[in-house]
Amino acid sequence: MNTENPRRGAQNLGSTGLRSREWLGDGGKNGFIARHHLRQAGFSGRQFDGRPVIGIANTWSELTPCNIHLRGLAEAVRRGIQQAGGFALEFPVLSLGEPFMRPTTMLYRNMMAMELEELCRANPLDAVVVLTGCDKTTPAALMALASVDIPSIVLTGGPMLNGRFRGRVVGSGTDIWRMTEAHRAGLVSDAEFTEFESCLNRSPGHCMTMGTASTMASLTEALGMQLPGAAALPAVDSRRMVLAENTGARAVALATEGLRPSEIMTREAIENALVVNAACGGSTNAVLHMLAIAGRLGVPLTLEEIDEVSRDIPLLADIMPSGRFLMEEFAYAGGVPALMAELGDLLHRDAITVTGGTIGDNVKDARNDDPETIRSLSNPVLPAGSGTAVLHGNLAPDGAVIKVSAADSSLLRHRGPALVFDRLEDYHAVMNDPELDVSSDTVLIVRGCGPRGYPGMPEVGNLPIPQKLLDQGILDMVRISDARMSGTAFGACVLHVAPESAVGGPLAFVRTGDIIELDVAGRTLDMLVTDEELAKRRRGWVAPAAPSGRGWTRMYTEHVTQANTGVDLDFLIGSSGNAPGRSPF
Ligand code: FES
Repeated sequence: MNTENPRRGAQNLGSTGLRSREWLGDGGKNGFIARHHLRQAGFSGRQFDGRPVIGIANTWSELTPCNIHLRGLAEAVRRGIQQAGGFALEFPVLSLGEPFMRPTTMLYRNMMAMELEELCRANPLDAVVVLTGCDKTTPAALMALASVDIPSIVLTGGPMLNGRFRGRVVGSGTDIWRMTEAHRAGLVSDAEFTEFESCLNRSPGHCMTMGTASTMASLTEALGMQLPGAAALPAVDSRRMVLAENTGARAVALATEGLRPSEIMTREAIENALVVNAACGGSTNAVLHMLAIAGRLGVPLTLEEIDEVSRDIPLLADIMPSGRFLMEEFAYAGGVPALMAELGDLLHRDAITVTGGTIGDNVKDARNDDPETIRSLSNPVLPAGSGTAVLHGNLAPDGAVIKVSAADSSLLRHRGPALVFDRLEDYHAVMNDPELDVSSDTVLIVRGCGPRGYPGMPEVGNLPIPQKLLDQGILDMVRISDARMSGTAFGACVLHVAPESAVGGPLAFVRTGDIIELDVAGRTLDMLVTDEELAKRRRGWVAPAAPSGRGWTRMYTEHVTQANTGVDLDFLIGSSGNAPGRSPF
């Protein structure tokens, strides 16, 4: 039974400039096959009569609790698309759930980026809305969109509500680390620790400290890739549904305007994101992700340039782990637009965004409703130089990073003997040993935790303090690794040492007892070992065996780049554009 006017849909080909018409506007077998399968899915011909087709890429998954509300958001996005005259097609994308995935979600960030890029290119889409949330989903989306360069807009899922435990506000990650150490020190009972478990995460949404998820949401907004105000608004705030509707509507406009990610994520936009990262006390992980995104865009960016852009920016957002408040307060204060307004001319205000207007346009009416949470340049939380610093030296010839605001300031210039472990598990086995030969001067080093060595570069760089020191009331010490650290964590942790030990970086040659010298102000990290001795150790070094023989892990370990270039796969760097592939029909 034909339920429609046969003149509509199939033969209404038109010349719209939309890439979806390559599939749906074809009058022969190719178009027939695409259209009759849409009819199979219950769509009328009106849906594909020449209107823009907008993909809703959804990272919803029960294995990603932070993204558990994204189905609802997708429906609001769909409403917006339909209101604006588009045809919405939702599809699932690999979801990366930080709490569960082993060995680490970072092993799979590039897999999600690769999958999303290919799905966008391979399907009849004119623009894409990507729904993200938990840590790696947002950078993976930005990397994919940079490489496929299709008109697109991101909507991050928003942070969860503030945690509340026994009358006080508690933050994701940050208070877990604090409570865990307090529990180990015997200051918190088992019962209290268990009760805490159900008081921290009280709603859908990503971590509500300025961890990696909140950081990358904020940087997505600063890059111009999501609507103003979208980063900070709580996941369950009704206004996020309105934002979702507006996002859908805007995606339809992007499809017809043809504004592409490469025109938005320019060098200037990347510098804006780096400035916002420093001003909001963002995660060290942002450094890796921004390097990877820049690599996809073909925008040259080095660790040194990141340091240069960031070091003059004071900390303005008083948010944990560097400050006192959480994302809820940040949102009510005005969120990223208010923060960017405070930053004034430190930003490239003429950078174009997904709104079609500039960053300057987007923030010109922004109001700061809480000058305690979002400070002014004249009254910062911490002075310039408190963000992520980049270090170099004979221990990290290609660089390493440390989050200055997260460290005990007395440790930012430090000299002490190394205590070295080849594997994380080796340290875990002895960290509670009362006889461990360790003092507050010791520099704890764990290697084998880099992109290739672990594999996947897990967030273990904030190594637990040895029990012996905890018992003495010592809560921070210098720790060095080729690992990452959660954006919610704190401590004098030197991270991302490059090259990593598994590929023969000098971290592989340091020995227990070597004197390590850290000077954050001078941006140096050295082991006081002569070049001759290092060369001798290098000659005797045996590379560790590759971690896995097959599948994704094999592809990853064979192609992953080092921390100073973003931990992308070498063959994914750059863009392949969005031209439709050859038709098989
Ligand atoms: Fe998902 Fe922190 S666990 S954002």
